[in-house]
Amino acid sequence: MKNKNLIFLIGFMGSGKSTLGRALAESLAYDFLDTDDFIAQKEGRSISNIFRIEGEEYFREQEKKALLKLLKRKKTVVATGGGLPCFLENMLMIKENGLSFFLEMEAEYLLERLKNEKEHRPLLDEKDDEILLLWMKKKIKEREEFYQQADFILDGGKDIEELVSEINSKIISS
Ligand code: S3P
Repeated sequence: MKNKNLIFLIGFMGSGKSTLGRALAESLAYDFLDTDDFIAQKEGRSISNIFRIEGEEYFREQEKKALLKLLKRKKTVVATGGGLPCFLENMLMIKENGLSFFLEMEAEYLLERLKNEKEHRPLLDEKDDEILLLWMKKKIKEREEFYQQADFILDGGKDIEELVSEINSKIISS
């Protein structure tokens, strides 16, 4: 039987993992943890700053450390950074230690949601919208093989209440 103490939400930037994660945690009476917040807090600086000063490889190592640390937690909903499942065998760890849900969303829809948030997301930085859409489509394609390993795939376009109740039923039947 799957460990239901850890519920992982995975998916591309802007797919709403944190918002859904908070609502889900409340409905389950679980704690909520966002890996980006966890890393930023531990480092005492923003994710953008970590990327800029230390580079992506360093950030991915911090993600791996954060993941290993949180595996011991009980009753926690984890919103992972968009890239986390796709590096350093993290998806394997996620699958072995909890129930995972992929919030699937089309690149065009994600772009609309991310347009005004570029400065908080170091990988998006200065790209204009047309370039960004192409870049996102390419990245999503590369990452798909990891995201698709989730235990359940959800339509990220649905509203939060619907997703929370869908996840609740999947947890019960798992
Ligand atoms: C990243 C996604 C971000 C954050 C970092 C890198 C990625 O998290 O971890 O900017 O590689 O997709 P969100 O998905 O929470 O925006």
